[in-house]
Amino acid sequence: MSRGEQNFVKLPRFGASLYDRLTHIRAVETQVKEIAQDLCARVKQGRLLDVGTGPGRVLLEIHKRNPQLELCGLDIADAMVQLAKQNLAGIDVDLRQGNIRRTSYADDAFDLVTCTGSFYLWDYPEECLDEIHRILKKDRSAYLFETHRDYDGDEFRRAMRANLRQENLLQRMLTPIFLEKQLGMTYRTAEVAEIIKRTKFADSFTLEEITLASMPVWLRITLTKK
Ligand SMILES: C[S@@+](CC[C@H](N)C(=O)[O-])C[C@H]1O[C@@H](n2cnc3c(N)ncnc32)[C@H](O)[C@@H]1O
Repeated sequence: MSRGEQNFVKLPRFGASLYDRLTHIRAVETQVKEIAQDLCARVKQGRLLDVGTGPGRVLLEIHKRNPQLELCGLDIADAMVQLAKQNLAGIDVDLRQGNIRRTSYADDAFDLVTCTGSFYLWDYPEECLDEIHRILKKDRSAYLFETHRDYDGDEFRRAMRANLRQENLLQRMLTPIFLEKQLGMTYRTAEVAEIIKRTKFADSFTLEEITLASMPVWLRITLTKK
């Protein structure tokens, strides 16, 4: 049974645009900026890949902070790739449609691989992580930002209410529904560790429960290629 990636394969253009529209809220903008800042502190030059890039917002924020970086984005949904091309128009970015389970990138191609909110959708997460291992340069890391299920419910609801206070009624109604659906599907931190232990990153990973945009539901997964 698919964890969700197959729903994205045939995503229509209006579905991608709806996702883009619904996630245009201050909390997501803050989250994207915090991720871009984190990543730009870790890599100053070379090639960076954003897996499951969606509308390409993390790539755009990275480009604003460091235009020297060579940016690549991959997404299983062609509609998302087309949207990312639109959002990143005028910027030199290599955007491709494909599944991270098997890609056409060369071995040791990237100085950094990142991903936000996509890992939990992958049907074959171990194979996908092994593919990230193949395309990453030696001694370089991948940073995956994922929500997890071990969060404190009260703390989460307080942060969400505060974050949505200035949004319109539709956003205030729909965002909690989508977010809670996502959180219900995401892994527990211990489950993520079990998956990674079955991959080539088994001996070189860390998991940190962090907040992004004050939301206490995030995990930063660091995978280093030894
Ligand atoms: C929830 S969206 C997140 C998009 C973007 N990273 C963001 O933060 O807005 C998840 C994205 O992962 C993509 N995706 C899911 N499974 C994938 C896979 N196996 N390989 C590549 N992309 C995948 C989906 O098409 C979708 O665009």
